[in-house]
Amino acid sequence: MRAAPSTEGGIKILSSPVSDRTAFILANTRPREVSLVPEISLRVADEAVPLWQKTEEDLGEMGLPPPFWAFAWAGGQALARYVLDHADWVRGKDVLDLASGSGLVGIAAMKAGARRVCAADIDPFACAAIAINAEINAVSLAVTAADLLAAKDGGRWDVILAGDIFYERDTAERVFAFLAWHAERGATVLIGDPGRAYLPTAHLAKLAEYRVAVTRELEDNTIKRTAVWTFGDVDPQANQAA
Ligand SMILES: C[S@@+](CC[C@H](N)C(=O)[O-])C[C@H]1O[C@@H](n2cnc3c(N)ncnc32)[C@H](O)[C@@H]1O
Repeated sequence: MRAAPSTEGGIKILSSPVSDRTAFILANTRPREVSLVPEISLRVADEAVPLWQKTEEDLGEMGLPPPFWAFAWAGGQALARYVLDHADWVRGKDVLDLASGSGLVGIAAMKAGARRVCAADIDPFACAAIAINAEINAVSLAVTAADLLAAKDGGRWDVILAGDIFYERDTAERVFAFLAWHAERGATVLIGDPGRAYLPTAHLAKLAEYRVAVTRELEDNTIKRTAVWTFGDVDPQANQAA
């Protein structure tokens, strides 16, 4: 996966998407079922690099982050699948979908019966895409562009879901510290990850593993073995392969 330049997240809850971002997303993506999670459809792009270039050209801005929001990443697909098939983890719970991208994992959590989901992503395009994708899937999500990693104590969610965010060293370290802190205070933490370089699995227990169909343009293969992890010891009854 290509690395993203760092971006600043504004500390605000977005109640509606920024209109030109929404128009751009609608013009450059199309709704498609997620391969491992066919009960969810997302607006996705066919190719990453042309879309990335077009984003910068159309908006007259350079140095924008890659369009992570325009794809369902392997880690998110596995985590969404797991949440839908093991709804007890989120049913009736207050959930954070950290690094939400397209909103896939948060949408899955709402469909699995979460009481409330906050989808957090520091890319304002992702925030707009999440709002669009939530509507397509007839669920309601709160969306924030705030960098929640900046203050560990910024919220008290019952469950934190993190799909495919361990691909860059600095961010991975910050994310892991954030998740470990919340796990320590008693939150349930579930991570979906296709073997990215910076996930410290020694501290985690594997709950399930999936084979996720991906494209060679985004990954080094067409299938990624992708696991769902949690902190600490796991009840052997719950530790079942998918
Ligand atoms: C590879 S994408 C994964 C998206 C989605 N979870 C999935 O699996 O399809 C990683 C996402 O993390 C977001 N991200 C990076 N740093 C972040 C941070 N500090 N807080 C929230 N999101 C962040 C990026 O903007 C990007 O949308």
